[in-house]
Amino acid sequence: MATNDELFKKIVSHAKEYGFVFPSSDIYDGLSAVYDYGPFGVELKNNIKNYWWESMVQHHENIVGLDAAIFMHPTVWKASGHLDAFNDPMIDNKDSKKRYRADVLVEDHIQKIEDKITKEVEKARHRFGESFDEKMFRETNPRVKEHQAKIDEIKKRFYPALERNDLAEVKAIIEDLGIVCPISGTRNWTDVRQFNLMFSTQMGSVNEEAGEIYLRPETAQGIFVNFLNVMKSARMKIPFGIAQIGKAFRNEIVARQFLFRMREFEQMEMQFFVKPGEELKWFEYWKKERMNWHLSLGIPASKYHFHDHEKLAHYANAATDIEFDFPIGFKEIEGIHSRTDFDLSAHQKFSGHKIQYYDQETNEGYIPYVVETSIGLDRTFLAVLSHAYKEEKLEDGTERIVLSIPPRLAPIKAAILPLVKKDGLPEKAREIMDNLMYEFRCFYEEKDTIGRRYRRMDAIGTPYCLTIDHQTLKDNTVTIRDRDTMKQERIKTTEISDILKANLKTIR
Ligand code: GAP
Repeated sequence: MATNDELFKKIVSHAKEYGFVFPSSDIYDGLSAVYDYGPFGVELKNNIKNYWWESMVQHHENIVGLDAAIFMHPTVWKASGHLDAFNDPMIDNKDSKKRYRADVLVEDHIQKIEDKITKEVEKARHRFGESFDEKMFRETNPRVKEHQAKIDEIKKRFYPALERNDLAEVKAIIEDLGIVCPISGTRNWTDVRQFNLMFSTQMGSVNEEAGEIYLRPETAQGIFVNFLNVMKSARMKIPFGIAQIGKAFRNEIVARQFLFRMREFEQMEMQFFVKPGEELKWFEYWKKERMNWHLSLGIPASKYHFHDHEKLAHYANAATDIEFDFPIGFKEIEGIHSRTDFDLSAHQKFSGHKIQYYDQETNEGYIPYVVETSIGLDRTFLAVLSHAYKEEKLEDGTERIVLSIPPRLAPIKAAILPLVKKDGLPEKAREIMDNLMYEFRCFYEEKDTIGRRYRRMDAIGTPYCLTIDHQTLKDNTVTIRDRDTMKQERIKTTEISDILKANLKTIR
């Protein structure tokens, strides 16, 4: 079995070979942490977007959409705190010249100790079988207690240091824990420094007074500054949400993880405006809803967990990440944050505009509180792709690579394949293609043996192959081949559309 590292490399190269994801500017050897989506990638990405949009906007009467510009007034970023505080603490290793996020180095160290605890627990579970009481074991086993005490001690020192922005203490913690650079293996560290992640550019020509503006690092601020416009124009009443899908940009320090950490990426965000005091109820509601959305992709629950934030941002009173089991380990795919009235209050202060909601029932005005759900589109793409990627050994001894992408998200829904390139089969196949192409994203192919064509369709995750053979000309039937079971059935050409519709409707 491939290790996770090997598997990750295989997924990256499969994504390139089969037209899902290319490095940006590939003929110039790429641009670090920037990627282009190819012919099948863009279809999958659009299908994920549509599925999210439908479940958030179309299925909730009280959520409406928005498409705000990427460029925003520079004061937005002063108000939001990004200019002053959208920083990562970074540290360089003087020997390897590699740069790391200081907080990630410490968190990885904590994770290693947690892995040791998990190992002890699993060993004991195996030993004691059904009578195993995990809670009691964790509370009484001396080795587990020792590991846990270490973790608690690190956290007690580390999170307050981050909170105080005490970078000297963060460095001291890295040194005291004996953390080494994974490349050079040494502890020869520079001081920890803060690094702002926003990209900036100039607006206006050089002759005019060109002003510095920023590429938005999150789509959320476009929603906050449009709160009044949307509320008034769409006649929204609290509680209500505004959803948006769009590009965001971050000058990431550690950017070597394919679609996981990009410098240009896409977010699908929803800000839900609620009455102050009700935010924690809605926070719980959205936690559940969003986890259900992930599970609806047909990926097992064991691949997800919540990771509640220990260190809350100064504006949040609750925050959790939904983490997915990527080939690089469990990592954040979506953040759910209770952001209080921080953003709207800040924009009220900096813009001078009163940003309030007037409650007609109680006759009072207030600044709404916000619960945000923020999911990375590219990370979701990576989750779907990496879960779908399978290498299978078949009964006849051959092998195939198949992407078992949920049919509804699959880039191509049906392949139309004439068995041979003669005897009137291509003409018949074209006729079927012409009938289906306005309903489903189809793909016509007549080159190569039918076996090879099936393999290619498996490799891009096409759920159905329709084969047109000599019998089709006699009785208007085709074979329909299921990607996952590889079983074939004969169906009438007049049934194709209904069968596809029924099977492509559900996500699983
Ligand atoms: N408005 C809140 C916000 O932006 P975040 O946790 O910084 O919160 C939300 O980002 C989501 O955006 C993450 O859960 C992740 O899926 C995605 N994301 C963040 N940075 C990313 C990056 N560099 N590359 C790809 N996706 C990223």
